[in-house]
Amino acid sequence: MSDTGRTVIRGGLVISATEEMHADVLVEGERITALAATGSTLAESWTSGDARVIDAAGHYVIPGGIDAHTHMEFPFGGTQSSDTFETGTRAAAWGGTTTIVDFAVQTVGSSLREGLDTWHAKAEGTCAIDYAFHTIVSDVTEDTLKEMDVLVDEGVTSFKMFMAYPGVFYSDDGKILRAMQRAADNGALTMMHAENGIAIDVLVEQALAAGKTDPRYHGEVRRELLESEATHRAIQLARVAGAPLYVVHVSASEAVAELAQARDMGLNVFGETCPQYLFLSVDNLAEPDFGGAKYVCSTPLRPVEHQATLWRALRTNDLSVVSTDHCPFCFSGQKELGRGNFAKIPNGLPGVENRMDLLHQAVVDGHISRRRWIELACTTPARMFGLYPRKGSISPGADADIVVYDPNARHTISASTHHMNVDYSAYEGKRVTGMPRTVLSRGRVVIDDDAYVGSAGHGRYVPRSTCDYLT
Ligand code: URP
Ligand code: ZN
Ligand code: ZN
Ligand code: ZN
Repeated sequence: MSDTGRTVIRGGLVISATEEMHADVLVEGERITALAATGSTLAESWTSGDARVIDAAGHYVIPGGIDAHTHMEFPFGGTQSSDTFETGTRAAAWGGTTTIVDFAVQTVGSSLREGLDTWHAKAEGTCAIDYAFHTIVSDVTEDTLKEMDVLVDEGVTSFKMFMAYPGVFYSDDGKILRAMQRAADNGALTMMHAENGIAIDVLVEQALAAGKTDPRYHGEVRRELLESEATHRAIQLARVAGAPLYVVHVSASEAVAELAQARDMGLNVFGETCPQYLFLSVDNLAEPDFGGAKYVCSTPLRPVEHQATLWRALRTNDLSVVSTDHCPFCFSGQKELGRGNFAKIPNGLPGVENRMDLLHQAVVDGHISRRRWIELACTTPARMFGLYPRKGSISPGADADIVVYDPNARHTISASTHHMNVDYSAYEGKRVTGMPRTVLSRGRVVIDDDAYVGSAGHGRYVPRSTCDYLT
């Protein structure tokens, strides 16, 4: 940053969800203050004086990524996800993501407030980039319902509920309905983990009793039908409540069909998928020597045919967000907890660092356009979760969360070079084209070529508005 706090990002192709233009971007302090056509008199005037100039020629200039689904320091499956807020947000920055929305957890018997306070304490003073919170609701009581209103006013405007994991996060239909009725009143967005956990637990028990203990059985018992059934039920409950619904980590074609039908009816029903469902499959779960454990997450990876449906839904907007569900557990000592019993493998995959590049690879591969890449990874998550227009777009007044992206840089994803605190990569050996070259978080350069130049504690908590898609 120059003495005047002015930075000009010059000569790049600025890409938004709707257009592309060769423009220079003026950053003053923490904000973007202007855009002007490259070479114009106005743009030229910015570089006189002592402004710092970042040469973006031959590069894309895009909004920093928004990963609306991460789990740092998340207690789960008898252990805790291996990225702290410090390591996880640093890795996110390396990957061109400048905001995460993580999940604070209400445990059974405690309040939403206690959960939120605990997560604030974990994150405060440690993050490389900005962060916000959803809250996982595990205990729907009268007090919880009242607390939801207070949290919405404080900027926690979305609540995740689980139809899976009985005895942990699970809520029955009555509890879900009551929380959705409250959300219909207070403007919150209900995020749903849509899998029929009661039925899944029966199939788990039967599989284990039959000696089926390998990781691949995780995928077999978490049947596609039990995802689509739960998705259907969640949609109907949301209709009864008159509330909006956002279904997280959608993996099965049949579940996409439920979402498509609801959206065709004009309902406020939205869907998210994750890179693991777009690039990985049950074949990974079947890797030998317990290697499949690296790919155990829920919803599970599906047969490869589902990928085409997911890509199509991302193009047609039946799915409108790609988040990572970043929830890393080391193979050594953590995934290994489930040797001999797939049900004890902690659920979750690493990916916060890989999302922007994998989706750019999808542009290269012809699955989505460049503008759709930005829409799915930056702009829609910002709008969906009340961060827009402060985040998710390159426009005057927005936070200067900007990535200068090299669309031609080739690299190979690997645990030996990634920055996430986890001992394997779900995408080990995958060659991708494109990577962030310079990353700014609120005007401050945090990634500069091959160096991390940010600091723990630069990242701030961002209170959120309600969903921008609701009327
Ligand atoms: O396997 C997963 N998805 N782990 C994280 C928790 C969740 O359900 O999102
Ligand atoms: Zn979930
Ligand atoms: Zn999750
Ligand atoms: Zn370059």
